[in-house]
Parts: sequence; C-alpha cells; structure tokens
Amino acid sequence: MVQSCFNEEYRPQFHFTPQNNWMNDPNGLVYHDGVYHIFYQYNPNGNTWGYMSWGHAISTDLVHWQHLQIALECEVDSNGNVIEMFFSGSAVVDVNNTSGFAVSIGKDGTGKDVFSQPMVAIYTSCYPTAHTTSNGQVIRQGQQSQSIAFSNDNGLTWIKYNGNPIIPSPPAEYADQYKQFRDPFVFWHTPSLKWIMVASLAIKQILLIYSSNNLKDWTLESQFGPHNARFGEWECPSLFPLYLDDNTAAEKWVILIGINPGGVIVGSGTQSIIGSFDGKSFVADPSDVYDPAELPFGSTVFQDFESTSSTFEELGWTATGDFAGTGPQKGSIVNAGKVQGYLGNGIMTTCLFGNGGTGTIMSPKFIIRKDYISFLIAGGYYPYNPATAGTSEDNQVSINLVVEGEIVHSQTGTNTESLVWRSWNVAGWVGQEAYLAINDFNTGQSAHLHIDEIVFSDCPKDEANWNDFGPDYYAAATYNGLPTSERTVIGWMNNWAYANNIPTSTWRSAMSIPRTLALKTINNKIRLVQQPVSSLSTLYTSTLYSHNFSSLECGETKVSVPAPFNSSMKVALKFTRGGGTKFGVILCSNETNTQKTVIGYDFLGQNIFVDRFKSGNSSFVESERNTFPGYFIATMPTKPTDVIEINILLDWSSVEVFGGQGQVALTSQIFPLEHSATQVKLFSEGGSTRSVSVSINGIKSVWK
Ligand code: FRU
Repeated sequence: MVQSCFNEEYRPQFHFTPQNNWMNDPNGLVYHDGVYHIFYQYNPNGNTWGYMSWGHAISTDLVHWQHLQIALECEVDSNGNVIEMFFSGSAVVDVNNTSGFAVSIGKDGTGKDVFSQPMVAIYTSCYPTAHTTSNGQVIRQGQQSQSIAFSNDNGLTWIKYNGNPIIPSPPAEYADQYKQFRDPFVFWHTPSLKWIMVASLAIKQILLIYSSNNLKDWTLESQFGPHNARFGEWECPSLFPLYLDDNTAAEKWVILIGINPGGVIVGSGTQSIIGSFDGKSFVADPSDVYDPAELPFGSTVFQDFESTSSTFEELGWTATGDFAGTGPQKGSIVNAGKVQGYLGNGIMTTCLFGNGGTGTIMSPKFIIRKDYISFLIAGGYYPYNPATAGTSEDNQVSINLVVEGEIVHSQTGTNTESLVWRSWNVAGWVGQEAYLAINDFNTGQSAHLHIDEIVFSDCPKDEANWNDFGPDYYAAATYNGLPTSERTVIGWMNNWAYANNIPTSTWRSAMSIPRTLALKTINNKIRLVQQPVSSLSTLYTSTLYSHNFSSLECGETKVSVPAPFNSSMKVALKFTRGGGTKFGVILCSNETNTQKTVIGYDFLGQNIFVDRFKSGNSSFVESERNTFPGYFIATMPTKPTDVIEINILLDWSSVEVFGGQGQVALTSQIFPLEHSATQVKLFSEGGSTRSVSVSINGIKSVWK
C-alpha cells in the first residue's frame, strides 16, 4: 500500500496514526507468530467519526507499523444507507480451533491435514436501521449486538460468521439497554479452559462477564459495577492478569474502563480497578473501591453546606457580586433537579440564576493543618488561567485555594452535573493561613459550579484510579497473546470533548505509545504502573543534551536541541527539592514564551503538572465552552530528600509524561502554532532545585 508522506503539520513521528481519515479506539490488539496486530475504529470516508470500520496495521516491534487494507468495512446498502457498523472489540487466535473456523492449509509428512489457526474478531455490530438479517434475526433500529468474524490469513481478509449476531441483546433484566451494549473484550482463560468476554452496558455503568467454549455460544456468568468513576458511559473494558511486584506467584486481575463523559479532566478518561477473577466473576479489592458517601479517614468537615436556611454571611463566608446575600441551596432544587452525587441535602452552587450569575463566594480564613483538602465538585469546565486572571478575559468557574494572596490550587468542573471527589495535597502549606475562593466569572453554557463536603484530612479522597491524569488517553485496550509480564496497552490519544475538531489533516487522531503494565506496591498501595514499551529505545538518537547541575538556580536555562528532534524527543529529568517551588522543562516554546508547553513538578502541591494553556492552537473547539486549554495535575507525594523522576515523550502534537516508576501518567495533545516554537528550557521557580540531571535523546521517525 502506498504510504503517505507522514510529514504533514502535527503528524506524529513515532506514534501510530492512520495514513489518512478518522481513527478512534484501538481494537483487536493481538500478538501472533511474531506479529503485533493493531485494528482500530476507522472511517474510510472522511476525517470525522462515521462509517465505522476496522482499520488494520501490523508491526514486529510495536513502533514500526505497516498499514494494511481495511479488515472489516462498514456495510452500506444500494441507497447508501449504513446497515452495519463495526464498533470496538477485540481479537484472539483460536489455536485449538474451538470455533471450528480453521481450514486445511496443506498436508503434513504423513498426509494428514494441517489446519490454520483462525484469528477471530469479536466486535459490536451497530445497526442504524431496523431490518432482518439473512439468518432471520430481527434487528431493531439502533441496536448494538456482539458479533464475530474470522480470518484464516492472519487478519488480512475476514469472513463474518453466518450466525451473527452471537449475542443479539443484553440479558432480559437489561432488555431496554439494547442500544447501549458494546465493546466486547475476549481472552482465553487457561484455568477454566474457556473464553471470557467482558462487554459494557454503557449508560448503566455495568460490565457483563460471559464465558464460552467455542466463541459462538456465550453464557452470562456475572456482572460488575457501577463503581468509582460512574457519571458517564462506560466503554471499552479490558480484563487481564498482572503480577504484583514481579512475583509470578502473586497474580492479580485488573479491569480497565473508559468513561465518557466523566473523565478526570473533562470528556473522556480511563480508570482501572484491581481485584481477583475466578473465571466467572471479577471481585474488586475493597481498597480499590471508593465509596463516595464515605469521608476520608480521620477527616474534619470544614463545610458541608447543610444549613440551607442560612446565608453565606451567617456561616462566616463572604459572597460578592450576584451571590451577595445568598446561601447554600437544597441540591434537589438546583438546575432543575439535574444535580447528583452530593451528600446530605445542601450544596453550595453558583447556579442560582441559570448560568447568569457572576461573583465570588469566599470561605473564612483557616490554618492548614492536614495534608489534604478534599471536596465534591461538579459544573462547567472553565479553568482558572493565571495569564488572564484579573483581566476582562478571566472566565474561570473554579474553586481556588489562596495562600498569601496566591492561588496555589484550583479545580474547575468536568462539564457534568454530578459531584465527584477531588483532593488537593496541601502538605507544602501546613501551618499557613489560607482561604477558599469560588469564582464564577462566566455566564456561558454550564458556567456554574456546585461544591459540597469540604474536608481536611491526612489522606486523599479518590473518585477513581485514573490511568492517566491528562485529557487525551481513552479506550485503552491490551494485547492478547503476550505473557503476563509483557501485558501491553494502547490508548486512543484523544478526547471525545473535541476529537472531531483537532486541527490535523488528512488524518485525525493518534494512538498513545504502547505501554507495558505492571503492579507495584508504592507507599503501601498497589499501583498500576506504566512505562513506554522497551522497543521505543531503538528509535532514540545518541544523547543530544545531558547535564548535571548540583543546583539549578531560579530562572530559565536554554537547552539546545537540533531540529527535527526539538519536536520529537525524550526528556529524562531527575531532581531533588531545593529552595524552589517548581521545577521542570518548557517545550515547544518561542523566544518570549508566548507559546509554551510546561511540564514539571510542584514541590508544594506535590504533583506533576502539564500546562497547555499556551501550547499553541486551541481555538479549534467551536464552542464557547472551550475544553482544550488547561493545567493538569497528577498527585505524586514525595519526601524532601527524594530523587524525583519524570520522563517525557514529545512528538510534535503530543506529550506523554510518566512520573516516578510510572505510577502516574499524563497524556496531552498540543498544537504548537509556529515552527519556531521549538525551544527547550529548563526552569526552576521560586528558588533553586538540587541535584538536577537532564538527559535528552531525539526520537527517530518510524515513517522514514
Ligand atoms: C468509544 C466508543 C465505543 C464504540 C466506538 C464507536 O470511543 O464510543 O464505545 O464502540 O467508540 O466508534
């Protein structure tokens, strides 16, 4: 197949992209006979979502890819109407021919038939129109059913099973969910000698677990959910074992779940839950399931907004602007009863005049005495942007922690009406006076905030185990056919909040770098850790920059990285806290830093951050509610003497950031506007940073 040039503006050089057109979820990841297959949600007819088909590419190392012909192509009738779309799913190689799909491919020395090992794809058939299939199954308009197809030439050409769909509808108890039943992930479960399928009842946030002997007939075994992040649709589940702390005798199971909307930033997000699986049911570890009604251990309630007959003034708070004279509201009456997830009856809300009201609601001053402040929050995504704060362009709708006149933590809504827990690490300010300022300076769509249950505690209150704390990592799927110690995951590096608008052409969307998964005990908690697949290192150039600073002084230090590697590189940072408050690297910047993507560690807030407020083009989101700009954090507590590690992959239009041992990751698209915005600078803010070691390698293109 003809390769396109792969040097268009923003084209990733070492991430997987289709040659052209729209792509979303990775599908059918399977390793067989030395070949990694990637199938993916693909529109053969354009570069926005539609006509969903399965694209296909192969690799022998997970970094160099060969594009192949479309595997499963959307079916259209003679009038151009779509009959069947191929939604997300998985693939297996049926080595024992349980399905009977194998064919003879020759004779062995004794004259016996030699059979193929069929590759079987298990996917969701999405049927836009009502019809009757050729095998007589009655399909309703909008139905989503599970189907299979097989290939006896290693995935090149496919035959749809004539008994499709194999699971036409959800079980009777969920019969009304027939339009929201999708994304089967299938694997071979050796202990029970069965195929296992996990599929999602998306708007119920329930995963159904089925088993089968032959990939055609399936028995419902159990269901799982809702748990943790659950205000949104659950999509693209994956279930697999991993070893804990490299101990092959300590196997645990992990479920990955995509949620959209309701992700950690806005729109799409990916969460994981650790537990056990016995061939029938997945049981979550109790420590991995977060009860939203339970306050963090040993917490002190600062304000629960239960006094709905009081004004904020009477509670010792101050309300200004349109909120002057108002007070907590009954959650049930706010925003036409759409609000969920609050505790008790009362909440604080700026949704008092539709989205119209503006002003500030401020807490009384308090002394920070515990390491965390946690609260429930919902509302529109309008982040606090330091560059516009205090100007007429300040349109934030956010809750802020103010210490010595400075906003040191800020949280906006995630564009939902359901309150979820967020926690700030405030260890860096213990003993200092602070207050909370809830600013609503916006009258746009959903421009309001709901807050409840503000507590001080020694530990954070989690909503979920987020797999990635950036905005652009979704529909993560893992490879079948690899040993447990090589479990590899690929995510779609995009977000439904703006995916159809990102400024790339003629392709749209990239996959994350394949990541190897493991379970590690870190600070007494089992964490899912991720690292870029080791074969990525074959693309590294010799070191382009390397330096050790016993102390990096406050300010910026330019680093010279030659083109083209100034937009395609790996940056490895190791450092220890000095007198400064933040340390990191500025990428894709111009001389004056009017453009920049900033990645670093906040010693006081104890988090890794990615700041894409000024990363370049962000005006492609055609909505007053622009969900692209932002400042994203992943809490990673450290001790003052710790050597902190951050590894960054920059690939022109994305950054993937791995913290510590990979226990936190942040993935973010960026669209630098100018070709000249390619400078690299180290920075130390608020003082110096100690024992800084920086090493930069270019990453060679896989397309040249
Ligand atoms: C997730 C998803 C899946 C669905 C597919 C359709 O991104 O919505 O649930 O199968 O995309 O393209």
